[in-house]
Amino acid sequence: MVEKDISFQSCMAALETFKASKFLMIIFGAAGDLCQKKLLPTLYLLFKKGFIEDFTILGLDLPKMTTEEYCTNAKKWLETNAKEAFDEKIYEDFQKHLFFESADLKKGEHYTNLCKKITEITSDDESYNVLYYLAVPPTLFSPIVENLSDKNLCRRRKGSKIIVEKPFGHDKKTAHALNLKLQDAFDENQIYRIDHYLGKETVQNVFFFRFGNALFEPLWNRNYIDHVQITVAEDMGIENRAAFYENATVVRDFVQNHILQLIALIAMEPPANFDQESIRNERMKIFKSIQSFNEKKIDDLIVMGQYDSGTVNGKKVISYLDEKNVAKDSKVPTYIAAKFFIDNWRWANVPFYIRVGKRLKKRYTEIAIQFKFPPLKLLGHKCKDLDANTIVFCIYPKQKVSLTFNVKFPGMENIPYPVDMVFDYKDVFQIDSPLAYERVLIDAMKSDLSLFARQDGIEAMWDIVDPIIKALEKSKKLYKYEAGTYGPVEADDLMKKDKRKWRLF
Ligand code: BG6
Repeated sequence: MVEKDISFQSCMAALETFKASKFLMIIFGAAGDLCQKKLLPTLYLLFKKGFIEDFTILGLDLPKMTTEEYCTNAKKWLETNAKEAFDEKIYEDFQKHLFFESADLKKGEHYTNLCKKITEITSDDESYNVLYYLAVPPTLFSPIVENLSDKNLCRRRKGSKIIVEKPFGHDKKTAHALNLKLQDAFDENQIYRIDHYLGKETVQNVFFFRFGNALFEPLWNRNYIDHVQITVAEDMGIENRAAFYENATVVRDFVQNHILQLIALIAMEPPANFDQESIRNERMKIFKSIQSFNEKKIDDLIVMGQYDSGTVNGKKVISYLDEKNVAKDSKVPTYIAAKFFIDNWRWANVPFYIRVGKRLKKRYTEIAIQFKFPPLKLLGHKCKDLDANTIVFCIYPKQKVSLTFNVKFPGMENIPYPVDMVFDYKDVFQIDSPLAYERVLIDAMKSDLSLFARQDGIEAMWDIVDPIIKALEKSKKLYKYEAGTYGPVEADDLMKKDKRKWRLF
């Protein structure tokens, strides 16, 4: 066995390096779904692991609650959402950093109070990081930024940053207006437009896999790759997020951000350096090269669906239309299958198929890169059954990378047989990877913008998505699919036309 000159220990000695310096995080929307499910559990985990020590979290939101009541609620949220990581004793310490104030976030008077609070907590020490986290519906983004700006809490306050959740805007126009508003108040390098998918360990491994090995990159192009398939299947429905989802739809919720970022990561050129601007420049070039969808092409390239009732994981579930607060005649898609093309030298004519949907058979997320078949059918009568070489980045439920290739089945006959070479994070490292939100929050605290979208990137993504939304509004083709299945059967036609198949999950 070859001795490795790099040990786990030397790689893991990173805690001190990544410890966040003292900070105050102000969470706008501290009683909301995102804060309960992702943000607080992440902050709690970072605290438990020792990444954050010297900090204050100030939650602001409409419901009337004292800090004490908020902490009691937060405990319940963490018990549910931090799951086995929850530890009563650690929570006791964590909650000492937690404060809450009820506030109508549109009203200026609350920001006068906020100014005082910030001064009180930071003693006007400008080395104190102040992070404003917008975990609120997009309609509140602008009034909050205006109010912060009015009180000189933005550019003028060194060490301040703003983290903005997705969807960033409703279309290109509103995203541009929001960018202008933000840039009026903050410098671009103070603005963190979050996309937690980029914080996922296996997603980041696409970059390492491609650019940390000499083996794969020469094959990573239209000469060798037949197509790419991205699957994001969720078993859950919209839960209690109808108000958000009815406006967002699967297109704004997933395609405009997570999916396009994944495509960019698979397709980008090697950046000149491993620094934030070089990386963001390369992602941006992909957004600019994605072929635009026009009305004529839309039905050939996109299939939309909405979940009906059905059975998921053995439980009966209701249809989208029966979900609380969903309009009875809602035409909102909860599923999309689509075919993208990237018009550049490397990827011309290689389809990037995507499938995203709620209430599907099970929760499963992967990126599969399928290579072309060998040029000759050399291997006897079974040759037509050969599997193409495929590299799969599995993001959920396992975190693993696999390569499928063909070998000879043992015996007297010459039969090719597909096998997998697998790298599974759990088997190799035997440690839990950080959650996506842990990674992006630490990056924000450390002022590393590589995994965040830049203003031009966001607008370029809307340039791709706006025509899709417009064309679909006209086309009005929305297929029902039974909950607990692979989605609308019509999505199979997208593949059949190209003599390809969706991967099973
Ligand atoms: C969010 C979407 O961005 O990502 C949700 O708004 C979705 O609709 C969630 O459920 C999925 O994230 P993850 O990390 O659980 O795959």
